[in-house]
Amino acid sequence: MAEYVFMLGRDFQLSILEIASYFSARNIAYKIKAFDSKVALISFNEEIDCTRTIKKLGGTIKIAKLIASVDDIKLPDMDKIKYSIADIGSARKNEVIIKLKKRFKENGSKAYLKDSVNGLSPSDFFRHNIFKTGFELILYKEHLALTRAVFNPSGYEARDKRPYLEREKLTSIRLAKILVNLSHVKENEKLLDPFCGVATILQEALLMGIEAIGMDVDKKTLYHANKNLTWLRNKYKFKANFLLVNKDARSASSYIEKVDGIATEPYLGPYLRRLPELKEAKRTALGLARLYNDSLKEFHATLKPKGKVAIIIPKFKTKEQVPVRINFEGIARQNKFLIYKPFKGISMPVLYSPKGTKLAREIYILEKV
Ligand SMILES: C[S@@+](CC[C@H](N)C(=O)[O-])C[C@H]1O[C@@H](n2cnc3c(N)ncnc32)[C@H](O)[C@@H]1O
Repeated sequence: MAEYVFMLGRDFQLSILEIASYFSARNIAYKIKAFDSKVALISFNEEIDCTRTIKKLGGTIKIAKLIASVDDIKLPDMDKIKYSIADIGSARKNEVIIKLKKRFKENGSKAYLKDSVNGLSPSDFFRHNIFKTGFELILYKEHLALTRAVFNPSGYEARDKRPYLEREKLTSIRLAKILVNLSHVKENEKLLDPFCGVATILQEALLMGIEAIGMDVDKKTLYHANKNLTWLRNKYKFKANFLLVNKDARSASSYIEKVDGIATEPYLGPYLRRLPELKEAKRTALGLARLYNDSLKEFHATLKPKGKVAIIIPKFKTKEQVPVRINFEGIARQNKFLIYKPFKGISMPVLYSPKGTKLAREIYILEKV
């Protein structure tokens, strides 16, 4: 058995659902033994490839492997060692520091503690080249874990320089990646984004080795999507194929062969420059409910048996402070989908509402029945 601490990004519930979906989709047995808003303690039957895993997850910041004691740390062969300690609800920090100092002394090395409560930020981790020059320990409850892989933000920064970003409707790279994983689609399978916009979700799928199909009703947007994916292919030389179709999502099954899963941030209503009034939000929600109903009917026809849909649904904030929701559970049931929970400890939908946004979002995973 091998145990790991996964350090979670913001929206920890989404991160946990993503981890559960990622390993279930690949038939890798795992057990989430404990979690809180910062970390999850997960056990596996065998060791996992931390570097490969962190590249595929959007909601995990670090993966650290449990060790029995500080004696299990292989000190780098350097005069000056840099190290960091993330203390997450543990009472062991002082004890650990004393033991470490003893080891540094025995080893004849000078060591510098780069301190911060949650450990080094990913950018500091790479700036200090910690994997070469030192190590990071994560203390969680009574456990000691050694950081094995860290999310590298430079990849996202490079991809955010793609030719076309339609900012008013763009999905973030992080969320796009999470949605791909929530759809349970894996390497060499086929994923559809029926409202693909400029192809952020498709892009993340392709980089994971997934065949990607996109639809968008807007011709210019689809042209931009094509330019983006061509740019991506030249830059990253991935092997998976993509197909873009300039059609309405409500006609998906007429144009698209069967797919393994769907991941999408659909049309969420007109772009909001200010909070809408209650009656305005209700009107928009009614129109969207119809669009989602007609789309889900088509998704059902386009998916393979047991295929899953990872989808974002808007939840409107209003001037009157009364939230407006769409009865999406009802729409799903009517179209022969069940709400799918890869991990029972997190309830669905998961709310996604970064500070300052005028529109909250609810994230669902559905399974075709
Ligand atoms: C929220 S955006 C998608 C953003 C996308 N994930 C990205 O990162 O660019 C929704 C997209 O749905 C498209 N759209 C709206 N109604 C549609 C429909 N009925 N069928 C297909 N696409 C539609 C819009 O043109 C828009 O590009």
